[in-house]
Amino acid sequence: MNEATMPRPGSIALVTGASSGIGAATAQALAALGCRVICAGRRADRVEEVAAGLGDKGLPLVLDVTDPASIDGALASLSHDWREIAILVNNAGGDKGGRERFDQGDIEDWVGTIETNVTGLIRITYAVISGMIERDLGHIVNIGSVSGFTPYAGGTIYAGSKYAVHGFSESLRKDYRGTGIRVTEVLPGLVRTEFAFQRWEGDPKKAQKFYDDFGECLVPEDIANTIAFAVSQPPNVVISQLVVLPNAAP
Ligand SMILES: NC(=O)c1ccc[n+]([C@@H]2O[C@H](COP(=O)([O-])OP(=O)(O)OC[C@H]3O[C@@H](n4cnc5c(N)ncnc54)[C@H](OP(=O)(O)O)[C@@H]3O)[C@@H](O)[C@H]2O)c1
Repeated sequence: MNEATMPRPGSIALVTGASSGIGAATAQALAALGCRVICAGRRADRVEEVAAGLGDKGLPLVLDVTDPASIDGALASLSHDWREIAILVNNAGGDKGGRERFDQGDIEDWVGTIETNVTGLIRITYAVISGMIERDLGHIVNIGSVSGFTPYAGGTIYAGSKYAVHGFSESLRKDYRGTGIRVTEVLPGLVRTEFAFQRWEGDPKKAQKFYDDFGECLVPEDIANTIAFAVSQPPNVVISQLVVLPNAAP
């Protein structure tokens, strides 16, 4: 049994989509574990607020995961003492215009969802993993979804994107098995966040109704706690997947 304490004190974590919901709660949970957390997202005011809440353990980073130049520029802007990223939480994601029959959705929304949830996640991972390989130390946590194994009508693109996250995560773990790089996929059920409000941008009542009709939902801290658990395991343990469901009535 390996007794090493993980994450190592002062480890640097990068959380994408840290400006709200699961990402913001994860930034707090990782800081509580002793990590220094880079809080990334497009909305500068929001990442600044979340990072400020972490004191000297937080650093805001404005970036758009769909824009390679934005990713490169943001990572290059990190000062030397924030560069050695040991934990990457690939959380940024959305479903703009989702829950529509395939032909009735907007193709730009469909492509945008894939670019955010899949291509963006791959780009960030590619940019960060080389440092992890050099140091032989890293933990990548990808936020999938129960939609990544449960198809539904209106889910062609979102569920498709999360199936891709699932396949990517499973294969990535196998690429690096036996090294210091671990890969975990967290697959939440319904969490009450801004997600539905982004999906139905301009129709907040519809988003509110979606959560209210569902009944018991998870809260972002439930997922953040799960991520904190996964990254706290000793180096000989890999939490491969965690499916987290609300204890809702059927
Ligand atoms: N809520 C649920 O029921 C649920 C269930 C299963 C899985 N998930 C997954 O959990 C993750 C987080 O979702 P959430 O529920 O916390 O929703 P949320 O509150 O809407 O948060 C989404 C985050 O993603 C960021 N983001 C979106 N597009 C981005 C881009 N192009 N570049 C950088 N950041 C971007 C947003 O920040 P900016 O707008 O500031 O960029 C925001 O911080 C997503 O991957 C989602 O698919 C959610």
